[in-house]
Amino acid sequence: MANMHEIDTYAKQWIKEAGERIRASFPNTLNIKTKSNPNDLVTNIDQETEQYFIEKIKTTYPDHKILGEEGYGDKLTDLSGVVWIIDPIDGTMNFIHQQRNFAISIGIYEDGVGKIGLIYDVVLDELYHVVKGQGVFVNGEELQILESKSVSESIIALNATWVTENRRLPPELLSPLVKEARGTRSYGSAALEMVYLASGRIDAYITPRLAPWDFAAGIIMIEELGGIATDLRGEALDLLNQSSVFVARPGVHSEIMHRYLKDGRW
Ligand code: IPD
Ligand code: CA
Ligand code: CA
Ligand code: CA
Repeated sequence: MANMHEIDTYAKQWIKEAGERIRASFPNTLNIKTKSNPNDLVTNIDQETEQYFIEKIKTTYPDHKILGEEGYGDKLTDLSGVVWIIDPIDGTMNFIHQQRNFAISIGIYEDGVGKIGLIYDVVLDELYHVVKGQGVFVNGEELQILESKSVSESIIALNATWVTENRRLPPELLSPLVKEARGTRSYGSAALEMVYLASGRIDAYITPRLAPWDFAAGIIMIEELGGIATDLRGEALDLLNQSSVFVARPGVHSEIMHRYLKDGRW
């Protein structure tokens, strides 16, 4: 068994230091490139932040493995051992356009079990943190267990593009949900949407496609608080591949799953 307490201490120190470096970079001109399409952006700061974590982790824990969005980590085929799943900047578009509403996300798994999650809102200096079995904290203040609610009194986070025509999800599934929920929001950072669910600012977050680094940390926090994390068909999430993600407080998860997502029959 790895010494999770020591790993946690380092992870907190490194994520704070990485955030400090990102804040210090704000006056500098960004080097922005595109990846898979013209709206899929990456900056030198995304890349440098991931490299910063890899250097720290590999020096301190040469046997740990790293899965990172920008590709400087390892090519993983399984989740054996200690695996750090890192999104150096989640919400890169917000980072570039708004200089806010982005976060660093780190999930630490041991033999496939989520043990530690950190999501750092760099601009607000808010660190959301979970050690499995010990509660979820934001800057040291403990978050409450997620109580049950109904859709009619819920705020649902989803991206407007999913209720327009798209290749992944029939729009007629989600448009009644948009109409019947109390409200909808879209923040542009999956990691922040996860911590907004954990802290009760929203009640569900639905998205037809995320990568493991977008949700690895957040789902540990949500499950710790009694929330439910599945894909859009109600199946367990896959930490090695892209998948749809549906996280919600209890009550809201089952209501959306039955009434709107038709128990995955679509
Ligand atoms: C993106 C954000 C966004 C989500 C995208 C992700 P990135 O991550 O989490 O909210 O809708 O699917 O790719 O690229 O900014 O790290
Ligand atoms: Ca990206
Ligand atoms: Ca991301
Ligand atoms: Ca990213």
